[in-house]
Amino acid sequence: MCGIVGYVGSQSALEVVMAGLKRLEYRGYDSAGVAVLADGGLAAAKRAGKLVNLEKELADRPLPTGSTGIGHTRWATHGGPTDANAHPHLDNAGRVAVVHNGIIENFAALRAELAERGHELSSETDTEVVAHLLAEEFSSCADLAEAMRLVCRRLEGAFTLVAVHADEPGVVVGARRNSPLVVGIGESEAFLASDVAAFIAHTRSAIELGQDQVVELRRDGVTVTGFDGQPAEVRSYDVDWDAAAAEKGGYDYFMLKEIAEQPKAVADTLLGRIDGAGNLTLDEVRISASELREMDKVVIVACGTAFHAGLIAKYAIEHWTRIPCEVELASEFRYRDPILDAQTLVIAISQSGETMDTLMALRHAREQGAKVLAICNTNGSTIPRESDAVLYTHAGPEVAVASTKAFLTQLVACYLVALYLGQVRGTKWGDEIQAVIRDLSRITGAVERVLETMEPVRELARSLADKNTVLFLGRHVGYPVALEGALKLKELAYMHAEGFAAGELKHGPIALIEEDLPVVVVVPSPRGRSLLHDKIVSNIQEIRARGARTIVIAEEGDEAVAPYADHLIRIPVTPTLLQPLVATVPLQVFACELATARGNEVDQPRNLAKSVTVE
Ligand code: F6R
Repeated sequence: MCGIVGYVGSQSALEVVMAGLKRLEYRGYDSAGVAVLADGGLAAAKRAGKLVNLEKELADRPLPTGSTGIGHTRWATHGGPTDANAHPHLDNAGRVAVVHNGIIENFAALRAELAERGHELSSETDTEVVAHLLAEEFSSCADLAEAMRLVCRRLEGAFTLVAVHADEPGVVVGARRNSPLVVGIGESEAFLASDVAAFIAHTRSAIELGQDQVVELRRDGVTVTGFDGQPAEVRSYDVDWDAAAAEKGGYDYFMLKEIAEQPKAVADTLLGRIDGAGNLTLDEVRISASELREMDKVVIVACGTAFHAGLIAKYAIEHWTRIPCEVELASEFRYRDPILDAQTLVIAISQSGETMDTLMALRHAREQGAKVLAICNTNGSTIPRESDAVLYTHAGPEVAVASTKAFLTQLVACYLVALYLGQVRGTKWGDEIQAVIRDLSRITGAVERVLETMEPVRELARSLADKNTVLFLGRHVGYPVALEGALKLKELAYMHAEGFAAGELKHGPIALIEEDLPVVVVVPSPRGRSLLHDKIVSNIQEIRARGARTIVIAEEGDEAVAPYADHLIRIPVTPTLLQPLVATVPLQVFACELATARGNEVDQPRNLAKSVTVE
């Protein structure tokens, strides 16, 4: 949510910053702006809308060349997506420029105070107050890092700030509280960004900034302190993915590339976690086996797609471990006073590792004495850093706003945790656990097979481009898959889409069924749980009798559903609990193709941002 880039070195700052912003545009695309220090002054440009609008502005009115600069791509919080509200924000003298991610909660009071002292503020944002406060502090200390520390101590909320001052050329200063900010160290150059994707083309050497830290970047090095001015310890690391991984690789959209990458992403998540004897080796889960044996409850917190992964995990955890498992939307969690203690294992699932709702939920859980295990895709992000243990999903960078490969790998990680809990606790399902571990280690082939058969799904999606509503039904783990299918369609195709538990239909939603309404039904395997299967076949007949157009996702060889399917999408045979790994893929493809057919932006759906760093 909002992308920030800062650069100091010997290259053209504008070029480096603009290239970085392109990589970060997924974080927000309501407006974009840049500022560079050149010729003893500060020059800035900003435009509402996507980065391309800023590119046009810069082509019409080029900025002078300088080697220190900052940039921003915005997801609007305070103030609409206008030119005036775009970042950077400047002080009245135009000497200081600031970009910001997050929310400054006490901005109204600060704004009133500044107005009293004669400052003129020209935007509706909370950010602009920081530019003015920095200018005031800098006028007495002539040190931007110190001015930033003084200002940060007065700010409330969650924020990342990056600033430059015309009187301190060759310096970029950043500050971090909660929202992400990473430092990149190159040869005689340094970078600041919300995400390493912004500078990965220049360096893989990174430094993680901690909570309440200020960093001063110069060509020849960086200095990190706390907001109190005390030197801070920093953790350096090497980024383990390359620039190519963040490029589209020949696909029209990142989302298509990321859907196609799923077999590899799943394989990478499994890599090294199942030994030759078919046992799980999750040494990285730094919660000891004896502590895990003591746990009497699991609580999963997550948002959106990650929440759907959590819903599926509940079926697996309760079945394989017999430990009660609750799943809760992270945004609701801490407000209902949940019952937690040292015997509660809280699992926080987050692709970005920066989702504020999830972060707040995990902090609340730890305050109550619970142990928190993060399932995360972003190395060094806040959620894993603040958890007791982390299981990384290794999906590689996910750039498209709609989550695909991160979801599948979150599922794999959840299964691994569930199986591991079963393994260490030695439940009566030992044989089944061994068999599922074997099936899981072969699952990538099944995901590949689904991807090879997607053309009819694309055709079907195109034929439905003029529909207003699509419903999704499922039972058991197929129910969260239905929710995920509906979420993908909402966010990408901007269509009314809802997921229901198929058994719930008769309690109300069946009234929605009308002639030719597309209804996607995720059918459980006919093997083993045939009662469940029989029930959903009845549900399909009920909606078809009322005119629905049935789009049925069913296992290869399941002939019982075929007569009731207007469109039949086949998926490979998998154990029931693992079926979401194959059943979700057609729904991703379906939503992506429908969005394209409706002329929507696939990678950057309206109003959304990839990483939601406000509550
Ligand atoms: C939907 C989607 C979102 C995220 C949610 C949580 O496609 O991507 O619903 O799943 O915002 O994000 P993370 O996993 O980064 O915490």
